[in-house]
Amino acid sequence: MSRNFVSNRALAVDASGIRKVFDLAAKMKDPINLSIGLPDFDVPDIAKQAAIDSIKAGQNRYTQTQGIAPLRERLRADLSREIGRDVGEVLITSGVSGGLLLAILATIDPGDEAVFLDPYFVMYKHLLTMAGGKSVIVDSYPDFRFHADRVEKAITPKTKLLILNSPSNPTGVVMSEAEIRAAVEVAKKHNLLMLSDEIYEPFLYDIDRNRVGATHSSPGYGGANGDASVAPTYSPPVLYEKVVILRGF
Ligand SMILES: Cc1ncc(COP(=O)(O)O)c(C=O)c1O
Repeated sequence: MSRNFVSNRALAVDASGIRKVFDLAAKMKDPINLSIGLPDFDVPDIAKQAAIDSIKAGQNRYTQTQGIAPLRERLRADLSREIGRDVGEVLITSGVSGGLLLAILATIDPGDEAVFLDPYFVMYKHLLTMAGGKSVIVDSYPDFRFHADRVEKAITPKTKLLILNSPSNPTGVVMSEAEIRAAVEVAKKHNLLMLSDEIYEPFLYDIDRNRVGATHSSPGYGGANGDASVAPTYSPPVLYEKVVILRGF
């Protein structure tokens, strides 16, 4: 008797278009790869050597599940200085994909809704489907900007998450301070958890990260309710505490 061993959960995930393009490219002669974010240069020798040295020094076994303490402590201190308050626990995952999966599984119950803009990073929809959640996708065409009025219309009593991705894949759009403020307003008003996918934050070359923390801790800065016009606000957790920050390092 034939039996389908594939779960309904897996069946609900359709193959990403990017995989189809990979398959097609594998059959082509000398295709130019403009797809995933692979640099066109090799890993620098200094980084390779550091990895080799660590392996040789015996750092080649299971670590603490949440990541080794010195790494987590260093990232917590750096991020807290940058954001202007203690950001809380840091968890090391296998890529931002691992972080997204865990964040969604840890927060979404069947029927819960998550709002995000279209165009969006392909995994959001599939992870939400796998968690039994519902993707509520807000059209951001033609300018790909965050339109608070459109987002607000998409919110229902079942909305739990607001997913932001700035700088964005695939559009490259970086949310302005006004847009971040508007997104935080919406999240506060509807008591939403925000998932801030900041994987491309290192590409914001004009941010002085040291100045951000210094400004926030200076007298007169009122934290989440303060006058953030004195500091460049490019990351939602500067203004809102109910945020899971996802970064790649
Ligand atoms: C917006 C966005 N989030 C998350 C990821 C996944 O990141 P990682 O490769 O670290 O798993 C990607 C990768 O393309 C991405 O573009």
